[in-house]
Amino acid sequence: MSEPAPRHPGFPLRDGALHVEGIPLDDIARRFGTPCYVYSRATLEAALAAYQHALAGRDALVCYAVKANSNLAILQLFARRGAGFDIVSGGELARVMAAGGDPGKVVFSGVGKTEAEMRQALEAGIYCFNVESAAELERLSAVATALGREAPIALRVNPDVDARTHPYISTGLRSNKFGVAHGEALALYRRARTLPGLRIRGIGCHIGSQLLDPEPAAQAAGRIVALADALAADGITLEHLDLGGGLGIAYRDDEPAPTVADYLAPLLARLEGRRERLLVEPGRSLVGAAGVLLTRVEYLKHGQEKDFAIVDAAMNDLMRPALYDAWHDIVAVRPRPQPARGYEIGGPVCESGDFLGHERPLAIAAGDLLAVMCAGAYGMTMSSNYNTRARAAEVLVEGDRVHQVRRRETLAELLAAESTLPD
Ligand code: LLP
Repeated sequence: MSEPAPRHPGFPLRDGALHVEGIPLDDIARRFGTPCYVYSRATLEAALAAYQHALAGRDALVCYAVKANSNLAILQLFARRGAGFDIVSGGELARVMAAGGDPGKVVFSGVGKTEAEMRQALEAGIYCFNVESAAELERLSAVATALGREAPIALRVNPDVDARTHPYISTGLRSNKFGVAHGEALALYRRARTLPGLRIRGIGCHIGSQLLDPEPAAQAAGRIVALADALAADGITLEHLDLGGGLGIAYRDDEPAPTVADYLAPLLARLEGRRERLLVEPGRSLVGAAGVLLTRVEYLKHGQEKDFAIVDAAMNDLMRPALYDAWHDIVAVRPRPQPARGYEIGGPVCESGDFLGHERPLAIAAGDLLAVMCAGAYGMTMSSNYNTRARAAEVLVEGDRVHQVRRRETLAELLAAESTLPD
């Protein structure tokens, strides 16, 4: 077993066992069971601090994209350190408020906002709606007017640049459903100016996720800046430019990710001399490396062509491998000295697509614990109850203090909302 690379600073290998900060991961498994998501507070805080340092000295707001990991404790931690939030549903707004987040620092993205969600956000007093279509603009105007409120808006513009990432998570191309076309933005801002109940506040874009090259994002920034100038010439002045999220993380050794500072540098270069406030909406790069999914080997199974390690976590717990063929490092919590063999790592779910990794070299026995690395982003939030599996527990560790921040679901909870037919 190779030592986990320093890509996982919150999860050091010490005295023969993988730790989370000061706690051996097998202690966590003993106390809370498996599968279990485990987060390092120091790693979360360092990630937010990296953004805040890179943006220090300018009027900027880091709006954490809640969809990446919406656990209340994580939202609370970021809120206390001054973060704002990027939400995509009324549910996420409720979470932000429950965690003590400031609605005045919330931007609301998403192509399908309902009237009820608009009312909820207006009543909460959010900072800005990122409007994604002409029809949404009209609806928001009507809802705000009926409430006697003014809705602060930005148009999410599709800058039509290729983010060069997985097609499912690339959002800035003309062919995507997101945002309003670059060429239509000016006309739509003019329309917004005439509609009651709206106040134009800014402009936004988001071109995709898991970006390992800053260039497309910098290009998008350039296009947004040019649009802001065109709007100013038309008498529409903006308070902020929102450059979205997207910075990737190093899921594997051979695909390094730029640091936050290196990623932001070419974007910031395009903003030189601007007076607008800058917003960013990072998700993955704030939480991805701060979490692992802890799972236990239930069975080793030596097939005719392949060796399988059947673990107690499955695609319902971590969907990314099944959905995107995504890679997550999988390491033994207590590496054994024996020679490794290649295992298919799969869960108990009845689908061939239920795998966490292929051909992973491991020296393991049934009962051993494995850590699926870089699982802090889009892990728990994309989990489901498929196969009537209760969702995992979540634990957050700071130094040698352990907090269970979500207990494991019970089967009774899973059944509670359903009813059988009358006789
Ligand atoms: N802002 C908007 C408008 C977004 O749509 C997203 C992500 C973000 C910010 C945050 O992007 P990030 O910094 O995390 O890249 N489930 C996929 C990722 C989907 C991302 C969707 N939008 C995955 O597991 O890779």
